[in-house]
Amino acid sequence: MSRAVPLIVAVDGPAASGKTTLARRLARHFGLEFLDTGLLYRAVARALLDAGRSFDDVPAAAAAAAGLRAADLSAPGLRDEAVSQGASKVAAIPEVRHALLAFQRRFGAGGRGAVLAGRDIGTVVRPDAARKIFVTASAEERARRRCKELQAENVAIIYERVLEDLRERDARDQSRAVAPLLPADDAFVIDTTDKDIETAFAVARAYVAGASSAPATQDSCRPV
Ligand code: CDP
Repeated sequence: MSRAVPLIVAVDGPAASGKTTLARRLARHFGLEFLDTGLLYRAVARALLDAGRSFDDVPAAAAAAAGLRAADLSAPGLRDEAVSQGASKVAAIPEVRHALLAFQRRFGAGGRGAVLAGRDIGTVVRPDAARKIFVTASAEERARRRCKELQAENVAIIYERVLEDLRERDARDQSRAVAPLLPADDAFVIDTTDKDIETAFAVARAYVAGASSAPATQDSCRPV
């Protein structure tokens, strides 16, 4: 008897675009596993901070990536700003990306499939994904959302500072030589600037279900 091929859904996009929330909801709706690949890079940055190493210490970063354990992905403090900036620095190190690749590629292989959220899922990790979504939104809207999230956690924060941090991280993610943040040619682009999560989810769900499959043109899908 032949087994169904696992369904792989790639959800990429810049910081605070809403990709992780969307990806998690898609996974729940379609009964798939879910992986937030950003946590892998965050856990590497956290390990370097804890060990007192700098983010450009390539051997230490590669060793931290190779030695990650599942528990490291739920460690406290992974969303701290220092960790966010560190994650995008270690993510530019080819040895780190290489060490994290096999785990990401295997994820969801044994079951019904998986939704993976990140920056390079549709382009590098799973270019063979049956469905690819690129989620974007204006930098100002993304900063506003991140601000609200942080305020809800009682973190004292200034909007301008959040916006500046997002822009800095976007620039680093887009300009790195290896696996830069960009939509796959065949990605379905969802701009969530004027969409609430329900609307964005409805659009994404229809696309994953196969109701709407037209890839967007490259010009309309550059992250802001
Ligand atoms: O949640 P947010 O969008 O702010 O960030 P994240 O998805 O947790 O990713 C943190 C950092 O990890 C990003 O700024 C990227 O530099 C890096 N990353 C990556 O390079 N490739 C991925 N597949 C996922 C994250």
